[in-house]
Amino acid sequence: MATLGVNIDHVATVRQARRTIEPDPVWAAALAELGGAEVITVHLREDRRHIQDRDVRVLKQTVQVKLNLEMAAEQSITDFALEIKPQQATLVPEKRQEVTTEGGLDVVGNLDRVRRCVDQLHAQGIIVSLFIDPAEKQIEATKTLGCAAVELHTGKYADATSDAAQRTELEQLQRAGRFTRECGLLLHFGHGLTYRNVQPVAAIPGAGELNIGHSIVARAIMVGFTQAVREMRELIITAK
Ligand code: PXP
Repeated sequence: MATLGVNIDHVATVRQARRTIEPDPVWAAALAELGGAEVITVHLREDRRHIQDRDVRVLKQTVQVKLNLEMAAEQSITDFALEIKPQQATLVPEKRQEVTTEGGLDVVGNLDRVRRCVDQLHAQGIIVSLFIDPAEKQIEATKTLGCAAVELHTGKYADATSDAAQRTELEQLQRAGRFTRECGLLLHFGHGLTYRNVQPVAAIPGAGELNIGHSIVARAIMVGFTQAVREMRELIITAK
């Protein structure tokens, strides 16, 4: 059955808007766990626009479920990850100008750079997942690097503007999901998933972790964090 990874970056986004101490993503992580989150996810960006080093350090000590650190395959962030040792690292592409992560990591085109990072993380016993587009060549390259998992980018599915286009993108995710499992990799999904579009993805055979941030934080402002997480988890476990 699919599990829920709650991305708490945007709690930190609100805090950084005033460069103050609240709201604290560490509190949000605890509330997310109370709501049933199986994974807590944070993205430590090179520009530190939301999550800060301190957040990751404290979360490593306080989170009782899996901590998943999203990060670029850059040496300075890799050094930080090696020091903190989250249970899992998800490598993502990163551009300073982007509003959010755009497109998956081009593993094929950056094989040596990604390998250098992956090998260092593996040496510390950190599970590595690569955030990639749902394309066979990227999945194969991930397998070549010995990673345990892929996180398939659901952005195109989420952004589809017609039912037909959404169905096409879902079919692509289903095909890539099947290929991922045939390669023996764990199957994660993420990006742009909401209360309205999550169920067909959660129902893909073999779906594991679904990493969801913006939609949960948006609802949490209205109904509270624990409740927002509980509602998303209910949708995931009842998806068919
Ligand atoms: N997965 C990855 C790899 C991401 O980069 C993000 C965005 O930070 C998410 C999941 C969560 O996306 P969203 O905030 O749209 O739910």
